[in-house]
Amino acid sequence: MSDSISSSARSVPVAIRWQGEGTSGRLHILDQTQLPARQAWLQCGDVDAVVEAIRSLRVRGAPAIGIVGAYGMVVAAAEALQRGLGGAALADHLRVRAGQLATARPTAVNLRWAVERCTAALGGLPADASAAACHGRLLAVARGIHDEDRRLCAAIGRHGADILPPGDILTHCNTGCLATGGEGTALAVITTAWDRGQRFMVFADETRPLFQGARLTAWELVQRGVPVTVLVDAAACHLLSTGRIAACIVGADRIAANGDTANKIGTHGLAVLAAAHGVPFFVAAPSSTFDLTLADGSGIPIEERPAAEVLAPLGVPAAPAGAAAYNPAFDVTPARLIRAIVTERGVISPVSRERVAAVLGAVG
Ligand code: MRU
Repeated sequence: MSDSISSSARSVPVAIRWQGEGTSGRLHILDQTQLPARQAWLQCGDVDAVVEAIRSLRVRGAPAIGIVGAYGMVVAAAEALQRGLGGAALADHLRVRAGQLATARPTAVNLRWAVERCTAALGGLPADASAAACHGRLLAVARGIHDEDRRLCAAIGRHGADILPPGDILTHCNTGCLATGGEGTALAVITTAWDRGQRFMVFADETRPLFQGARLTAWELVQRGVPVTVLVDAAACHLLSTGRIAACIVGADRIAANGDTANKIGTHGLAVLAAAHGVPFFVAAPSSTFDLTLADGSGIPIEERPAAEVLAPLGVPAAPAGAAAYNPAFDVTPARLIRAIVTERGVISPVSRERVAAVLGAVG
């Protein structure tokens, strides 16, 4: 990857950068739709470009879109500065832009959470604060969310590696440095265990229709020197039946108060298969992915994506003209199928409303 930050142990690749000082800073995103063929960085000149990048999955993964949503609010303040907005016009502009950013994708709650943190911080400024003052405050909040996510990923990695059983691992979608501000969630558990000396093969579901497992997870692990084998999603059942897999571990886009977990389409099916084969199923996510306003997973909105993603995967037609497509981007895994949820605050197991409340306390 063309950029990285240093952590205590090693260099961690990054996929989101804020470059430049003060109001001349700009948001840069590694365009994940081009991976693994090309590493192209995209500069987001306005909020429309940030929203487009989130919607078209140039940046994706729940924590990563939260971070970009927060930087998007800084971009909104820069727009206000350019247009000379102040007073009520400035407040209106930031409110409209916050709404557009928070709803760019519906399922991952981190996006709404991060934008709300930004708007709450603006509430602490005087009513007549200038666009420059708003910009400064928002940049501090966005940088704080970004830095915090790096630390959360490291803590999730440590807690998860403590409980990861020995043996090969099966994962779904992408949950690494491309999906977060740090080493990842489920992938941080895997790489932390690897760095501690545990040895295994990582099996990565290709993750249809957008191939986040094949294109992104395999790419990250190859760079990290961790052995990875890609399989078609439909091969997971057979692989589990061989007895080779010691654990499945995935990330999350939104977790309800009882532990029901929304994640990439196919996750629920994988959890059912894991249960049928007696293989433990783990979820790894930061506290910002919990939505304690939802009693269970039935209230989690599931994003439906364009038919073309299914009918012409990677742009290659795979179905006849005239066929329709069903393309939900996420599904909800019931808490009863999850052995443990690994958070930065510790491990939730068994997964129950009481344990979620006990480990998370009040999530702000
Ligand atoms: O549609 P995507 O690629 O944004 O979906 C991402 C996932 O489902 C990830 O598993 C989830 O966001 C966790 S990322 C640490």
